Amino acid sequence: MLVTTDPMKAAAAIAAGHLAAVPTETVYGLGALASDARAVARIYAVKGRPADHPLIVHVADAVAFGSWGFRIPTYAHALAATFWPGPMTLVVPRSDRAKDFVTGGQDSVAIRVPAHIDARSLLIELCKITKDPAVGIAAPSANRFGRVSPTTAAHVLDEIGGLLRGGDVVLDGGDCTVGVESTIIDCTGPNPRMLRPGAITTQDVEAATGLKVTHDSTVRASGTLTSHYSPTACVQLLAAADIAAEVAGAGQGVIGLLALAEVETPTGVVRLAVPRNVEEYARVLYAALREADALQLEAVLAVPPAADGVGVAVIDRLIRAAAGA
Ligand code: TXA
Ligand code: MG
Repeated sequence: MLVTTDPMKAAAAIAAGHLAAVPTETVYGLGALASDARAVARIYAVKGRPADHPLIVHVADAVAFGSWGFRIPTYAHALAATFWPGPMTLVVPRSDRAKDFVTGGQDSVAIRVPAHIDARSLLIELCKITKDPAVGIAAPSANRFGRVSPTTAAHVLDEIGGLLRGGDVVLDGGDCTVGVESTIIDCTGPNPRMLRPGAITTQDVEAATGLKVTHDSTVRASGTLTSHYSPTACVQLLAAADIAAEVAGAGQGVIGLLALAEVETPTGVVRLAVPRNVEEYARVLYAALREADALQLEAVLAVPPAADGVGVAVIDRLIRAAAGA
């Protein structure tokens, strides 16, 4: 396995049927050529993920999106035009390009055009190598199933470094700038439906489409399992005013605190992050949860941010982290 900062090497590896961990602005993905059944099967093996869980296909642009989808609704095109490249995934009825081994046998496919400069360079190079302008990279987050998504190349190596082989590549594109996974919007019905909150909000989607967003979902999404995004430490959500009492009543183990900078750290508690705003909270969230495990903390007390902007996604991931402990 090669660790590199050169997107061309990652493109060559994927074209040759190997895996490449790919930086995106949300989190790192574990990518394979979306048309290669054997390579895609290795993604599931490395992640330890059930084979019926569908993957996101990453493409270079909205034209490629058109080639993976079938009878894509007008509002989905509006979303693509407004928010791509960016931290948004659209689920649309699939074309013949999207095989069962990528969609988990579903009639829909999840597509994203990432904005990270290295992911873009990789996709453009892969289009050239394969002579296919709609070529796709199937990539879930590059963590073991149910664990916290990686937001640095070092996290990827910690998670799956030992499971990658000769020929596979880890593309180091630095720290992810968003820090939580893409917003997933189901575009298979008359209205957009929010499957997973992210940096693109319900309000953003309603403004771009002029349609009401619905939230109930019957579509499978592994990110919607209750015990997901979970570290080993026990995560507990609470209000800033309740921290002192919680710390006083705690047992022997060391406790960590995750909260906005305005919240003070009580004596004896390990401060895991000091984000100044909700965007920074999202950016540092997963690194902080990993740090809690590295320090073998007993518990993490997390004061959620306000439910504005990406704060909705931060709260969602904190609730899941708490449920998984
Ligand atoms: O930010 C992200 O979305 C990252 C980067 C690498 O793109 N990817 C990511 O992938 O978070 P993953 O596999 O960890 O989560 C993708 C989610 C899963 O919950 C999956 O079930 C859902 O997308 N999904 C994929 N295809 C779907 C489909 N056809 N219908 C409904 N949900 C789908
Ligand atoms: Mg994931």
